[in-house]
Amino acid sequence: MLITGPRGTKDILPDVSGNWQYIEKTVRDICSLYGYKEIRTPIFEHTELFLRGIGETTDIVSKEMYTFTDRGERSLTLRPENTAAVVRAFLEHKLYAESLLSKMFYIGPMFRYDRPQAGRYRQFHQFGVEALGSKGPAIDAEVIILAVQLLERLGLTDLNLYVNSVGCPECRPVYREKLQDYLREKTTDLCTDCQSRFDRNPMRILDCKKTKCTEESAGAPHIVDCLCDDCSTHFEQLKSLLSAAGIHYVLNPRLVRGLDYYTKTAFEIQYAPLGSQSAVCGGGRYDGLVAECGGQATPSIGFAIGIERILLALEKQGLLPDASNEIDVFVAPIGKEVQGIAFKLLCDLRKNGVTADMDFMDRNIKGQMKQANKYPARFVAIIGDDEAAQGKVMLKNMQSGVQELVDIHAVQNKIQVEMED
Ligand code: HAM
Repeated sequence: MLITGPRGTKDILPDVSGNWQYIEKTVRDICSLYGYKEIRTPIFEHTELFLRGIGETTDIVSKEMYTFTDRGERSLTLRPENTAAVVRAFLEHKLYAESLLSKMFYIGPMFRYDRPQAGRYRQFHQFGVEALGSKGPAIDAEVIILAVQLLERLGLTDLNLYVNSVGCPECRPVYREKLQDYLREKTTDLCTDCQSRFDRNPMRILDCKKTKCTEESAGAPHIVDCLCDDCSTHFEQLKSLLSAAGIHYVLNPRLVRGLDYYTKTAFEIQYAPLGSQSAVCGGGRYDGLVAECGGQATPSIGFAIGIERILLALEKQGLLPDASNEIDVFVAPIGKEVQGIAFKLLCDLRKNGVTADMDFMDRNIKGQMKQANKYPARFVAIIGDDEAAQGKVMLKNMQSGVQELVDIHAVQNKIQVEMED
């Protein structure tokens, strides 16, 4: 029996990997524009990192982690997200000593044991940025604008940026109590998940998509009305910075995010046509996480974008680049005797940066011409006995149909001249 890939995973096949490279290149270009450098952390970490970092009551930690014990009896977890690991690396390698502000980005696979559906997978890929060290709202604005600019550069429209502030350890407990007071009488009408959230993590009830929960929490107090002076000023300044930069945003007092480390700014970018998995980007400030992981208090902010969701959105808007397999030259030997000469020409062309290929399947000349058209190849270099005897090739320009006998050492030159015309 054929073994298939695990549920919730996807092979990125050769005909679509160009789309991934296109997104990754756009990501790298934007990050270099904003001064964010790439960090690559391991795919697995000590489980403890995520328990401490993301929070034990979150869905990610309580239900979705791929945790295993290795042969040395250590508990390890495939990373469900990368913020905690970036913080771990920041502390382990003392990146704080190198500069006051560390700006990093990553691209890579994450793992969550989620119920797979369109836009939601068990292995998925994120592009994310993390800026560690600055407490001012300007860095929040920079990070948000970076995300918006990336999505715009890819051509996406119909995006909605939602922002909120989730407060800090000073003002959030006050809000939490107010929220619990509001919901206390309604708990029996909430879904079972939200009933258990009432004590553990009541703010997550605001985020529940179930109709009865959204109805029951509709009139709940808003956290923005309970913020302390510091959080409130920060939020006001962020909003003015975004407005000054011409970034359109929507205030969403129900936006709470699914990870415990957030403080102050929380934001999401949604692409509504994706339906229930419309969040293409999520992020926020996490001023307490570095200290939680054993370092000095370091105000920080970041986001992650789901690459599969971006691909779905690009596909919906018809924005994926045309896949082209075009090559410069297809080398076509006629007969086994000239194979060596043809192969040498192929190697020389490639060595000099010309994209070239040849037949490896013993096709006759008709089959080889068909293959050359399939690529398509701009030129075909045909080598038969006569050409070989003269040290020449018959070079055919596949666009004009014109063919010309050319010295075998002059093939590259000839192609370049014709391509420049
Ligand atoms: P998150 O909201 O859990 O945040 O994930 C960010 C994005 O990853 C989502 O908006 C979505 O596009 C994508 N995503 C999440 N789960 C899946 C899945 N199962 N399948 C496909 N795509 C998915 C974080 O991960 C935070 N670490 C973001 C952050 C960085 N906050 C601060 N810095």
